Amino acid sequence: MYQYHCLNPIANVGLDQFSDNYVSTEKMEDADAVLVRSAAMHELEFGENLKAIARAGAGVNNIPLDRCAEEGIVVFNTPGANANGVKELVLAGLFLAARDVVGGIDWVKANIAKTAEKAKKAFAGTELADKKLGVIGLGAIGILVANTAGHLGMEIYGYDPYLSVDNAWKLSRHVHHAKTVEELYRECDYITIHVPALESTKGMINAETIGMMKDGVVILNFARDILVNTDAIVDALNSGKVAKYVTDFAIPGIVDVKNTIVIPHLGASTEESEDNCAKMAVVELMEFMENGNIRNSVNYPNCDMGPRGDKIRATILHRNIPNMIGQFTTILAEAGINIQDMTNKSRNEYACSILDLGDNIPDDVVENLRKIDGVLRVRVIA
Ligand code: MLT
Repeated sequence: MYQYHCLNPIANVGLDQFSDNYVSTEKMEDADAVLVRSAAMHELEFGENLKAIARAGAGVNNIPLDRCAEEGIVVFNTPGANANGVKELVLAGLFLAARDVVGGIDWVKANIAKTAEKAKKAFAGTELADKKLGVIGLGAIGILVANTAGHLGMEIYGYDPYLSVDNAWKLSRHVHHAKTVEELYRECDYITIHVPALESTKGMINAETIGMMKDGVVILNFARDILVNTDAIVDALNSGKVAKYVTDFAIPGIVDVKNTIVIPHLGASTEESEDNCAKMAVVELMEFMENGNIRNSVNYPNCDMGPRGDKIRATILHRNIPNMIGQFTTILAEAGINIQDMTNKSRNEYACSILDLGDNIPDDVVENLRKIDGVLRVRVIA
């Protein structure tokens, strides 16, 4: 029996997928698995039982990924599950930036509607067709935004030095491949960012990069607040260099600045996205708990041996250093345990080995595996 704990409300349609082998616990310290949306986990202590955390969403900046890896806790996210919800709000952001609908609605609330025909020229805008949209980051969301905005008649520039082959297949052939991000900055009337919040992407939109952009550029940020340097964007809005900043992050210092459209992180707040994320997160957790397979992890490599069936399976999370597999196989061979099948995958400094064994594995042998320098967690699923 596995125990799971929800740090935030998670859609029932996802939780209902848990089989009878799973029970919800109010105590996080007892949980084998945790489901989370936006709760900040950096300061939380993790119980010894905790094996996996699934974020029902794409961004994982609320989770201490490295500490989890060190403690042998696999962190999953749900890439693509809310991409359509975010894409739709990015498109709304494009429309709201191009046409002063918000200003017009505010004016109508404060004035007598019958004078609206005279007043409307103050809220006139431009059309999106034939304007250039730069999409930085062509993951699940960036691709949907690029392809759909192309159907609005926009000319799309895409930039992603890490574009996966799968994603390249999904991208419309009409998207212009920006070889450098500077090219995209120089050319585009609208720029939308879809990259993760990392040390390397923090403040990527700053005084210098804004300086490379066209006068009157519109910037959209539905990814994470820290990607845009607040002082730089405020200065650029005040000077008119940036015509509009549409952001899904209501951080202090932005809300009252002219020409901002600030939304309270509603990108994935749709029934469909919440359901999709919950369903994907629960499937990932069950796959890991029951079969040891890692799919869509953000701190360990993906590692998959397929269904376990009635086999005895050892999963070992360890550092990506020489002679780990040699030590595992030696210990198992000395104990007379036959390895029927095995796989090993690594990602940066961490690795995962899954071994299907012909015999049950006694506790003292498991203990010997645990004692190997560089092993972070051993789990036997039988
Ligand atoms: C995501 O990271 O998936 C989106 O920002 C939505 C969310 O945080 O729930």
